[in-house]
Amino acid sequence: MRTQVGIIGAGPAGLLLSHLLHLRGISSVVLEKRGRAYVERRVRAGVLEQGTVDTLVEAGVGARLLREGLPHRGIELRYGGQSHRIAFEKLVPGRTITVYGQQEVVKDLIAARLEAGGDVRFEIEDVAVHGPAAEPYLTFGGERLDCDVIAGCDGFHGVSRPSIPPSVLRLFEREYPFAWLGILARVAPSSEELIYARTKRGFALHSMRSPTVSRFYLQVPPDATVAEWPDERIWAELKARLETVPGFVLETGEIFDRGVTPMRAFVAEPMQYGRLYLAGDAAHIVPPTGAKGLNLAVADVRVLTEALDRFFSTGSADLLDAYSESCLKRVWRAQHFSWWMTTLLHTFDSDDDYGRRLQLSYLDYVTSSEAAATTLAENYVGLP
Ligand code: FAD
Ligand code: DHB
Repeated sequence: MRTQVGIIGAGPAGLLLSHLLHLRGISSVVLEKRGRAYVERRVRAGVLEQGTVDTLVEAGVGARLLREGLPHRGIELRYGGQSHRIAFEKLVPGRTITVYGQQEVVKDLIAARLEAGGDVRFEIEDVAVHGPAAEPYLTFGGERLDCDVIAGCDGFHGVSRPSIPPSVLRLFEREYPFAWLGILARVAPSSEELIYARTKRGFALHSMRSPTVSRFYLQVPPDATVAEWPDERIWAELKARLETVPGFVLETGEIFDRGVTPMRAFVAEPMQYGRLYLAGDAAHIVPPTGAKGLNLAVADVRVLTEALDRFFSTGSADLLDAYSESCLKRVWRAQHFSWWMTTLLHTFDSDDDYGRRLQLSYLDYVTSSEAAATTLAENYVGLP
């Protein structure tokens, strides 16, 4: 069996790459370890930058996103008993974010691939990468897939990055001393906008998925389990961290999904080896406070699509050779922004009074200086 691009992983990165390549007449096969139902139900991110929305719409997979996605004109920072609005329409006119669940993006992409006759294979558990330096091919279930190029879109725990010799890779890592407990609840959002709340009890985030479904996150200890968080405890803690300004009432409802996500930062450099190219979480992870993970995956795929198009249409590998360098500038900007947002809003065990005062001082600066607020806004909505 032969294809131009062998893609490992049917997350947002792998599926979007396969779709964009199809639009350019380039063939691909996507090999996914999990079942279709599993990847379509896996609840993760929800904030799409303008550039991500534009990419999906231009690629013809944005119809439902435009119909059901929730465009936002700002976010709220809540701390010290007060609400402070970061107004995108004023600070970064014409640019915004749209809330639309990652699994909805995945559903739309799978539907588009299957409708176009795309080759997306689920429940392929034993993918192995061979010969990435020279003649790349993939094996799985006794089959062999010869490829001109392999795209490693298999997330942080995948097989593509470990197939690169360790001597070639430089790894950058940071573990945070906390995790996020994320839930989905059948209740109307209690606020029209996302609320990033800093309290002495820890960070909380109010987000949403639709007019009837809300999404929340709580900073929890790094070893927390969902079993330790029954519904009553979750709502009590969310209320304690969000009902901190006069008049705000957090509406509650049935919790129908919950999970704990460890917080880490990670970058692998370079994002390529021979004819293997890594995209998305396979190459980098950010703590979710800046809402950048999914958007970075989409940005990588945009760059990789251009490079592959040039390679297959002209034979020139110049853009492919520059792939990692082209992506890493944005990756590191997102790393810094995500670290900055995380540091600004979470409580750290090591915090002393001095550390807390520094955090509050910076929050005051961000919410009173237009220049500082613009920095936050332009990073949040995404650099062009
Ligand atoms: P993934 O979505 O991880 O897709 C990789 C795919 O590869 C998966 O389908 C996986 O099953 C498959 N795969 C793995 N190994 C193999 C293999 N050996 N063979 C074949 N297939 C394989 N970002 C935010 O902005 N906000 C959030 O709230 C948020 N929450 C998150 C919660 C969790 C639990 C995780 C893990 C991530 C979260 N993220 C969040 C980050 C965001 O979801 C990711 O950045 C995004 O999913 C990256 O897309 P991707 O396609 O690169 O990787
Ligand atoms: C959501 C996730 C994030 O990581 C974030 O910063 C904001 C919102 C969400 O899932 O809605």
